[in-house]
Amino acid sequence: MTTQERASQISQKEALKIVVHLQVVLKLGKFYEPNNRILQEQMETLYSSMQTALEREDEIQIYVSQNSISLNRVRVRFDFATYHASKFLLNAFQEREIGSLIFYLGLTKEELTRFMFFLAEKEIPKEDQFEQIFSDFEAASFPHILIEKIPPAEKVETLDKAIATMYFLGIYHLKEIFEQEDEALNLNLTKRWVQSMFNHLAFDESFLFGLTNVKNFDEYTLNHSVNVCLLAIALGRRLGLSRPELMELGVSALLHDLGKLEIPKDILDKPAKLDAGERAIIETHPNLGAEKLIEQASKRGIPDRVIQVAFEHHINIDLSGYPKYVRRTSINLFSKIVKIVDYFDAITTKRVYRPKVFTREEALSLMLEKSGEEFDPLILRTFAGMIGVYPIGSLVVLNTGDMGIVVENNPLASFAHKPKVKLIADPQGNKMDGDIVDLTDLDPDTRRFKRTIITSLDADKYNIPVSDYFLLRAQ
Ligand SMILES: [Fe+2]
Ligand SMILES: [Fe+2]
Repeated sequence: MTTQERASQISQKEALKIVVHLQVVLKLGKFYEPNNRILQEQMETLYSSMQTALEREDEIQIYVSQNSISLNRVRVRFDFATYHASKFLLNAFQEREIGSLIFYLGLTKEELTRFMFFLAEKEIPKEDQFEQIFSDFEAASFPHILIEKIPPAEKVETLDKAIATMYFLGIYHLKEIFEQEDEALNLNLTKRWVQSMFNHLAFDESFLFGLTNVKNFDEYTLNHSVNVCLLAIALGRRLGLSRPELMELGVSALLHDLGKLEIPKDILDKPAKLDAGERAIIETHPNLGAEKLIEQASKRGIPDRVIQVAFEHHINIDLSGYPKYVRRTSINLFSKIVKIVDYFDAITTKRVYRPKVFTREEALSLMLEKSGEEFDPLILRTFAGMIGVYPIGSLVVLNTGDMGIVVENNPLASFAHKPKVKLIADPQGNKMDGDIVDLTDLDPDTRRFKRTIITSLDADKYNIPVSDYFLLRAQ
């Protein structure tokens, strides 16, 4: 029986031990000869822990995806102390385009030692990296080891392009729904779209968060609804919702402002403060949306929660807000989730009538002040953790004087202030197409962090279209 067919018995501790020792041996292999004592000791520890696992499991498969390492399908969780080991190993695999390593029962210490030196000593060729490594690997003959290439489908550029295309397709799809007016609502396509966004989200959440910086593309409400949908699914995932629940949450979020299609455009886009009458008209959109969905509910199988979210997404958790509930004393979980991401996306978007656009950080701190009254405290706290100290898309200044855009958060809470940053301007303010730097990188001489964030800035004020960076990446 292979590991694919049965649940793995590997414990988190065991997986971590193997992975960390793999990294240590690989690192030492770069500097020492095979007969070095320290290296031999580490090799012994690696071999014996692998042997114990192999005798029980028949094989050990180490699989590397963009940001994680798993061992026989157990995702290895790194902590503060082992974080740099995981980074080193991820890098070593990715540079060589290795997607997985499989070790089979029968592996000897001699074969493992030879293989580790093969990996450690291998110069990384610039082009056709993997082909080169693979043919040398075949020639060197390792009967109990298999290496596999990162599948082409997982090539980041291709995926980014697919995600960006899907993002805009979502806006167009919603436009069709909104413009259909009296036509029957067919949610099959909507569900399929949500499903595919969910799949992408599980693979590269950072890039999708980056795309939510796209604002006011086509009509505001459409673009806004797509952003709300993505943020809602991501938040729901963190709250532990099941896949079917997440699909339903995604559809609810996408359609939360459906009622706005019945509000006259001159009120929706009025470039000044609304008077009381106009405000009252806008505030009918939850009712209108829910009514439209109820009309179709029975024949189209629209779930109750989709209707509830349309109705409840402006009701605060203390039941203030609008519309007013007469008898009910609480709002549904999906509405609480959508309410948070809806508010966040709205106040971080520039609109003609909005006197101030909040940066993502400012928005979060404003929302935390309203925790417990407007927003559910627990869900809001999870949302704040998801968005991070420096939300993806933030414009930041580093201690080196460079300016950059946050493109990926660090998954470790203790490194929340050390995201990955794409450099966009040098200390003199000259624009540049700089590298993506990881703020956890250490200076090898001083062992201190190479770069630190000093402050974040309002990208709008500096006229920097942050979303362009994410879109360019997908071209
Ligand atoms: Fe709304
Ligand atoms: Fe909204």
